[in-house]
Amino acid sequence: MSGPGPLTVRGRIRAPGDKSISHRALIFAAMADGPSRIRDILPSADVHATAGALRAMGVAIPALSDNFVLEGRGVASLQSPSTAFDCANSGTTTRLLAGLVAGLEGRVARFEGDSSLSRRPMRRVAEPLRRMGARIDFEGAEGHEGLPMRVFGASLTSTHLVNAHASAQVKGAVLLAGLASGVGVTVEEPHASRDHSERMLRARGVALDVIAQNTGSTLITLASAQQLAPLDITVPSDPSSVTFFAALAALADEGELWFEDVCLNPTRTGAFDVLQRMGAEFTIENEQESGGERVGVVRVRPSVLQGTQIGGAEIPRCIDELPMIACLASRADGETIIADAHELRVKESDRIRAVVDNLRLLGVDAEERPDGMRIVGSKRPLSGHVLTHGDHRLAMAFGILGALPGNHITIDDPGCVSVSYPTFWRDLATVVGPARAQVAVGEFAAAVRTPLVIAIDGPAASGKSSTAQWVAQELDVRHVDSGAFYRAATWLALESGHEPETWTAEHVLAGTPRITWRLTERSVLPIIDGTEQDEVLRGAAVTRQVSRVAQMSEVRAWVNSQVREAGAAVDVVVDGRDIGTAVFPNAALKVFLIADSWERARRRLVQRLGRRPTDAEIAEETEALVARDAMDATQSAPARDAVTIDTTSVTQEEQVERIVALARATRERLAHL
Ligand code: S3P
Repeated sequence: MSGPGPLTVRGRIRAPGDKSISHRALIFAAMADGPSRIRDILPSADVHATAGALRAMGVAIPALSDNFVLEGRGVASLQSPSTAFDCANSGTTTRLLAGLVAGLEGRVARFEGDSSLSRRPMRRVAEPLRRMGARIDFEGAEGHEGLPMRVFGASLTSTHLVNAHASAQVKGAVLLAGLASGVGVTVEEPHASRDHSERMLRARGVALDVIAQNTGSTLITLASAQQLAPLDITVPSDPSSVTFFAALAALADEGELWFEDVCLNPTRTGAFDVLQRMGAEFTIENEQESGGERVGVVRVRPSVLQGTQIGGAEIPRCIDELPMIACLASRADGETIIADAHELRVKESDRIRAVVDNLRLLGVDAEERPDGMRIVGSKRPLSGHVLTHGDHRLAMAFGILGALPGNHITIDDPGCVSVSYPTFWRDLATVVGPARAQVAVGEFAAAVRTPLVIAIDGPAASGKSSTAQWVAQELDVRHVDSGAFYRAATWLALESGHEPETWTAEHVLAGTPRITWRLTERSVLPIIDGTEQDEVLRGAAVTRQVSRVAQMSEVRAWVNSQVREAGAAVDVVVDGRDIGTAVFPNAALKVFLIADSWERARRRLVQRLGRRPTDAEIAEETEALVARDAMDATQSAPARDAVTIDTTSVTQEEQVERIVALARATRERLAHL
């Protein structure tokens, strides 16, 4: 059961930055000529995909912190990426950038994505772009109109698009194609889709008219030959993310939740209207304009909820929130019918089938319909194991249901929230208390407090990296090798052609915008220009210079920001210098590995040579290690609360066993706080 007694919620939440606006903020700033400051961008996996793709086109995008400047160099400066775009799970990255590349004559880009994205329809964006004169090849099996695809930019002609799917991504693609090619375009919308592109472009000085027609549709007209001015923006918080907690507040027994800085763009607030229609008590205060968007403070209080009907023009205004609304409906009085929502079938999962299947599995009376679903509310306790299909919005919607008293719900892939709301479980724990949030994520309990961080530190060749990797595997969490980030920066510095003796932090940092990170199943990896470079990074040239780079405090700050970003998103075992002291001073468990220098030298040689080293070889390596220890001395102190393990005379297996036992005990302790 999810914790005893009634549920009281209290607090103020600043949900993360809006996803749609974050993608566009990066793209428009990259196209403008001059510096744009971006505050409160959403640092989620989807937005990282857009940043990575733009970096691959030559745009210098710094790490996605909550306040940074992007130095745009104009549309003409955008180059063909040297490697394929890894769009991961992100439809917005794919479709918007397809439009941008299509309008850039002579540029070519290959788009790849994960299995969910590769199933999503791309014909809807390819067709209008082809009509404008771009070439788009689908490279998968015959008849598969999705990723992987290759987009060949051309000098385009203008077009008139009827946006039949009410897709803001398709509309955005055509506008971007027009902007990049300097041609005017018109988009006709029978049902309005979200209008962030229009607002953000106008705020950047682009001539774009939006005219409501007598027929009820809207005509959006972009003039030819437009330039984008750079602009400072603060990304308001995402109403789709707010909806999860607004639903929780409406379903709670007592209390209230406040949401700061919420984007109240009318094309996005359909879910708030639906919640209010169902009886939720909503108040909106301090409404104001910010960067072309309406923002305000929202308060939600518990109330008795009724079923409702949702369809027609309301659907695009709440399309991303329908999984949460469906879950909410399962707790309301009476029945809820969602219609005209065919688009839900082609989101990150088939959200009609996936939501209905999961609701039924939990014991809800729900029925799948071709264009939506019917849900009958009840008060019966719900229990079962939800299958998210890797879909972030399913994980969060059912996570909210799981936090309600009486329900016992586990989620198969809670980590997928990193696509749009990396700190979701932490925010849930803050609002409902760790015990209830813990039940919501079942096996993944440790992640609710803040993702679990296990920090492993120690001198050179103490076996940090291989031990951390093994520990991560045993605990089934991801491994972050922070040293790999230093290696990546070192490799790019070597590539720059400057003599290593002359390197300054500035030289080294100049390459870092080309480096980003990616969550793989087992680890967090640095990616250079969109590609993993594991072999190059482990090579001798990099090994010789990495210590030089790792001593530069500015570079250390950069690596630390990358590693912290990853640690805020998912459970990690992370190894490296300073990890338990400077990078994660609050890590749940810190381990400091030591071993005498002879033993460390011997292990390093066995690994390098693949055979038993001679004593002379060990002696020579020991000398090098001792010298390295002296160079690294300032970074090699254990944290005060670290557990020091002397590994000189234990096998690696024993070491790993010990750390895993400590980690399990730590998880237990956190779960019972
Ligand atoms: C988005 C548009 C919508 C939405 C998605 C983000 C955007 O998709 O579901 O989460 O930022 O343009 P469609 O354009 O496919 O409707």
